[in-house]
Amino acid sequence: MEKIVSLCKRRGFIFQSSEIYGGLNGAWDYGPLGVELKRSIRDYWWRCMTQLRDDVVGMDGAILMNRAVWKASGHESTFSDPMVDCKTCKRRYRADQLDSVECGQRPSKTPATCGGEFTEARAFNLMFRTYVGPVEDDSSLAYLRPETAQAIFVQFKNVLEVARKKLPFGIAQIGKAFRNEINPRNFTFRSREFEQMELEFFVPPDQGFQWLEYWKEERLRWYEAIGIPRSKIHVRQVPDVERAFYSKGTYDLEYDFPFGRQELEGIAYRTDYDLKQHQEHSGKPLEYFDEKTRSKFIPHVVEPSAGVDRTLLAVLCEAYAEEEVKGDDGKSEMRTVLRFHPRIAPIKCGVFPLLKNKPELVARAKEVRDVLRPHLTIFYDDAGAIGRRYRRQDEAGTPFGVTIDFETLGEKGPELKDTVTLRERDSMKQERVMIRDLVGRLQTAIA
Ligand code: GAP
Repeated sequence: MEKIVSLCKRRGFIFQSSEIYGGLNGAWDYGPLGVELKRSIRDYWWRCMTQLRDDVVGMDGAILMNRAVWKASGHESTFSDPMVDCKTCKRRYRADQLDSVECGQRPSKTPATCGGEFTEARAFNLMFRTYVGPVEDDSSLAYLRPETAQAIFVQFKNVLEVARKKLPFGIAQIGKAFRNEINPRNFTFRSREFEQMELEFFVPPDQGFQWLEYWKEERLRWYEAIGIPRSKIHVRQVPDVERAFYSKGTYDLEYDFPFGRQELEGIAYRTDYDLKQHQEHSGKPLEYFDEKTRSKFIPHVVEPSAGVDRTLLAVLCEAYAEEEVKGDDGKSEMRTVLRFHPRIAPIKCGVFPLLKNKPELVARAKEVRDVLRPHLTIFYDDAGAIGRRYRRQDEAGTPFGVTIDFETLGEKGPELKDTVTLRERDSMKQERVMIRDLVGRLQTAIA
């Protein structure tokens, strides 16, 4: 994990938020490569969950919502973790993590074994508070949303009307969520500010369990499509005692992170709990009229809820490799490579003139760059030996590299004119490809 964290900083995937001021616990900034990777993950989720389907539409709700939403959903009264204070070191811990986290004062021990004395456990609400408007009192209290889902529930009726959909149908959303976690840890895994990709899929009451199974399989397929094989994801059926009170069935999809097996995504059968609560609290009907059966009911919901940051972290862990390879001089050397699936790689293709000091090569390379740029994210690099440039892109996870050389210019015979070498990151194999075929070749590989 240390190697991944250090690569993330060195290559500009992830930085500590406000780093020059000592950081802010639980907050992270994504650098130039990180932001592209994050976008690719989000975009691919969005494409699969909305654009490639007839039965899901999207929305983008506000982060700030009427406080009544959180009263109705139960978050104001129950969205809390049990917390204890250590009277010895004055630090605060989650009561259920005393034997699994480091003691703040004696890191070789856990709070359970360091000999500290604790207060009684108290409920600590995880929602961040803020005030809307100039007066800071109870009437202006608002929360930063701790999940994106509630915006979907409270807009259910509006979306249903405009989308003209029949059950089963879903509403998808991607956006920031905030939780004042007691112990943010494991790099971005448990943060205080993070991003969720959530689908609320509305179904007739007797179809909840069948759609729960459907979405579990769909989501496993999705992770496979971004390079996390099915064998690496563990499906955990959450036992009754651990399940949220509103859920009749939940699967956690877990991944083996370097710090242990942890949840990537939850897929919950939330019954009609949320819509029922909002109907009751708002006094507005949130029922669905089924024309076939001429009956009215509150739809049930199956919710696949994934974290963008956790997916990105899993993708990084899965892609990271160190291997011994032959350098340009024929000697063995170590290379660090991120084997991202081309579909989500932050940069799809590097473009390199073989030599920087040959104006004809540089000019032709810039032409190739301009041909590719409208179609995919590329990185132009003419600095340093070509082998070093390949290594830099291996480390950034760039799946392809195109080198413009003397053959391209026709100096080694007319048959190779207007061809380039196309290098594949994982096999490091190189082949000659016509410039006019490049866009098609690369687009097929990243689709
Ligand atoms: N709407 C349901 C819901 O929010 P959750 O299991 O609390 O369920 C869903 O969160 C997903 O959001 C998690 O599986 C995880 O990927 C992500 N997530 C939750 N808390 C997080 C945190 N503190 N930091 C990073 N990601 C988090």
